[in-house]
Amino acid sequence: ALPSQPLNLAEYHILARAKLPAMVYGYYSSGADDEQTLRDNEEAFKRLRFRPRVLIDVSNVDMTKRIMGIDVSFPLLVAPSAMQRMAHPEGELATARAVARIGTVMGLSSWSTTSLEDVEAHVPGLPKFFQLYVYKDRALTERLVKRAEKAGFRAIALTVDTPQLGRREADIRNRFTLPPHLRLANFDEVNDQSTMKQDSGSGLAAYVASLIDASLSWKDVAWLKSITKMPILVKGVVTAEDARRALQAGVGGIWVSNHGARQLDGVVSTIDALEEVVHAVQGRVPVFMDSGVRRGTDVVKALALGADGVLIGRPILWGLAVNGEEGVVHMLQMLKDEFKLAMQLCGCQRVSDIRRDLVIRNAFAPY
Ligand code: FNR
Repeated sequence: ALPSQPLNLAEYHILARAKLPAMVYGYYSSGADDEQTLRDNEEAFKRLRFRPRVLIDVSNVDMTKRIMGIDVSFPLLVAPSAMQRMAHPEGELATARAVARIGTVMGLSSWSTTSLEDVEAHVPGLPKFFQLYVYKDRALTERLVKRAEKAGFRAIALTVDTPQLGRREADIRNRFTLPPHLRLANFDEVNDQSTMKQDSGSGLAAYVASLIDASLSWKDVAWLKSITKMPILVKGVVTAEDARRALQAGVGGIWVSNHGARQLDGVVSTIDALEEVVHAVQGRVPVFMDSGVRRGTDVVKALALGADGVLIGRPILWGLAVNGEEGVVHMLQMLKDEFKLAMQLCGCQRVSDIRRDLVIRNAFAPY
């Protein structure tokens, strides 16, 4: 039986699965290959255990945090996910309104089905990061970056884990393509529908292979810095080596992500990768993390291991599918309530009280 009123993010997922067309659900939910990392992203959080402190006055808990000059109501941000109008007719606009109501930051995908200008026009001043895919056509890429800067986006999240699209078998089976009534709204220049050829499998994989620049390298971070004043966040770093390389390149932040397990299957879960990145970064720039965050306790665990901000991807799509803007607000509010309760039960009065000694790797390891 379906839950009548979802009580947690997992129940939003169940309701969304029942509602969405198979092709859309397959695209949103799937991970790459055998989905080992997809499972591991969530399971790795469960391998961490808390060492809560007691008899601390938690009658007033301050969940706010300032991240890259932005005041958020709690340290949970929204990751960019493509093509949100497949989940709900209002798509990215519903997400933007929900994010504004909760008081956090929205990541907007290059492949949004609402243009970046329309998102800014409908929810003026909403703090937003623009997720960038670098096209072989660098002039087109540069125009995209300039438009995001003009529309007031606070940062560019440069996705660095996608020189090709990961092998997502649901998309191959369903011959995934953007439904014909929708558009990749940030592009007038490329005829996206015609490049998403799905005769032999995933139309999106074909699109990436033909248009996205697989030669992208560290020198392009310098190029990106030369064309914009926005800070560059590198999204998809999972090693200390790359974190150090990113600092040398002058990035404004490091985003530990495995793309929700949609790219390289078998890659380390992000909560396991987080700590080596945090150690390498030594507080010089903010560290973000996503992939597998489903509970308020997960947010606390990631902050304890040194993340400055945590993001969710799929749960936004489930909220949208179930009930549009209201679904996203309700889902985010549940996560916020869970985060508050977790802080209280851990003995944390403010976000800065969430420290490394709050978690251990498993129940029996010596601290
Ligand atoms: C994504 N993600 C993503 N990332 C990105 O850099 N550009 C994009 O266009 C997209 N699109 C996208 C679509 C869908 C359907 C999903 C599920 C994910 C990855 C996203 O930003 C984020 O890294 C993950 O979703 C985080 O993992 P969870 O929270 O989904 O487990």
